[in-house]
Amino acid sequence: MGRDHQLFSCRLAIVAILTFARSVLGGTSLAHKPQMGWNAWNAFKATVNYTIVQDVMERFDTLGLKEVGYEYVLLDDGWASYNRTSDGYLQANATSFPKGIEALAQEVHAKGLKLGLYGDSGHYTCAWRPGSWGYEERDAQTFASWGVDYLKYDNCGGFQSLTEAPQVRFGAMKNALALSGRDIFYSVCGWGYQFPWHWGGDIGHSYRMSGDITTSFTNETECQCKTAYCLNTGYAGCSVLSIINKMKEISQYQTQGHWLDMDMLEVGNANFTLNQQQTHFAFWAALKSPLIIGADLSKLSNDSLGVLTNTAIISVNQDVLGEPVTYRKAQSKEGLFQVWAGNVEGGYVVLLLNEKSYPQTVFLSFASLGLGAPQQVIELWSEKTLQDANTFNGTLGSYQTHVFRVQT
Ligand SMILES: *[C@@H]1O[C@H](CO)[C@@H](O)[C@H](O)[C@H]1NC(C)=O
Ligand SMILES: *[C@@H]1O[C@H](CO)[C@@H](O)[C@H](O)[C@H]1NC(C)=O
Ligand SMILES: *[C@@H]1O[C@H](CO)[C@@H](O)[C@H](O)[C@H]1NC(C)=O
Ligand SMILES: *[C@@H]1O[C@H](CO)[C@@H](O)[C@H](O)[C@H]1NC(C)=O
Ligand SMILES: *[C@@H]1O[C@H](CO)[C@@H](O)[C@H](O)[C@H]1NC(C)=O
Ligand SMILES: *[C@@H]1O[C@H](CO)[C@@H](O)[C@H](O)[C@H]1NC(C)=O
Ligand SMILES: *[C@@H]1O[C@H](CO)[C@@H](O)[C@H](O)[C@H]1NC(C)=O
Repeated sequence: MGRDHQLFSCRLAIVAILTFARSVLGGTSLAHKPQMGWNAWNAFKATVNYTIVQDVMERFDTLGLKEVGYEYVLLDDGWASYNRTSDGYLQANATSFPKGIEALAQEVHAKGLKLGLYGDSGHYTCAWRPGSWGYEERDAQTFASWGVDYLKYDNCGGFQSLTEAPQVRFGAMKNALALSGRDIFYSVCGWGYQFPWHWGGDIGHSYRMSGDITTSFTNETECQCKTAYCLNTGYAGCSVLSIINKMKEISQYQTQGHWLDMDMLEVGNANFTLNQQQTHFAFWAALKSPLIIGADLSKLSNDSLGVLTNTAIISVNQDVLGEPVTYRKAQSKEGLFQVWAGNVEGGYVVLLLNEKSYPQTVFLSFASLGLGAPQQVIELWSEKTLQDANTFNGTLGSYQTHVFRVQT
């Protein structure tokens, strides 16, 4: 065997090892913790453009968002042209993204961030851009060739979206992404159709469990489905409180690396009080939902920024155990206040929510949760240590949530 040949097979072996390591490590690390980022939809709908994205990237630095863990910059519907190229490929809207997506991905990567695009499992996206039904492999190849890191895949598109099961439509893109040669985070957006907590984890790194979130904290007028097992047949936007309530039935089904997505955050978008913003963020964090900011970052108030960058709350979301809190019926009072709890590294976390618009005094024994003897308890929003580690007895304001981190 000649020297050249030996070198060659040695190189082949290294390539094989690297390829193997990449697929094993990449596959698990991609969604090891719930994804954190910013998405254009809640603030800009389908009008997203290059200027907006450039501004967002800057503010990831100046507002300290990157520093606390936000890493994905996600374009939602509207990035694409109304028409495919003459030979059938997706293309960016040339007015909104004059340099195209590949150049944008390079800019995003140069900032140490990751880029996400949006697609749809039907003939059309929700804003009538081309859907990927029948084009899955071609479009996945396009995303990979542009250097895209993340795909949010939606449920609009008329005929096919109503006749083909979501498992089939979303599964086709899963397979296409796997063949694309690039590790692309797959965010399934099936609005909770056909109860994806029983199958979505086999398909996506995250999967939506409800219709879209609205800028309302409690108003349920548009929310057809107020429970998880209601047959959602429409768009059905729901309030923050309604999405939290649905999670009572299903939070236990998610597994690490396959997160239940409660939808993008409305912190900083709606006219929520500070208590409401803290409640919203605390539940998304503790339920291990993706933390995707939906606000216009150029208009973010100091309060909203403080909520979104609270590292103690974020560390609950990004905890190594990846365990969502579950609803504790025995300690809660239906319709008045809610207690949720779950393990985190070094102990457990307890959420106590006053779901009324008026203050309530609540008593809670931590030991009654059966998660271990409390040694020290810190309420994370106030950063206060409880004097008595065994119980909380205090008053919560309108729609306020205390987040107790209990050390055992
Ligand atoms: C590009 O976006 C603009 C602004 O949203 C829109 O008016 C135009 O129709 C789009 N062009 C194409 C080719 O999709
Ligand atoms: C672009 O797409 C629209 C809507 O899908 C269609 O009506 C139009 O004919 C297409 N234009 C071209 C040039 O293909
Ligand atoms: C992008 O959107 C912003 C905000 O809507 C707008 O001010 C700006 O003119 C747009 N830029 C382009 C290139 O379309
Ligand atoms: C609730 O929302 C609906 C529309 O979604 C609106 O018509 C109604 O006025 C709202 N109710 C309250 C009390 O704000
Ligand atoms: C917030 O309140 C202002 C003034 O009351 C109103 O104009 C605006 O539409 C509200 N925004 C939302 C998202 O409800
Ligand atoms: C904004 O919040 C920071 C830290 O939370 C505080 O130091 C600063 O004074 C606040 N600024 C305003 C204008 O409220
Ligand atoms: C909780 O505190 C209130 C006074 O703030 C007191 O009346 C009540 O008895 C306490 N509850 C318990 C169970 O200790």
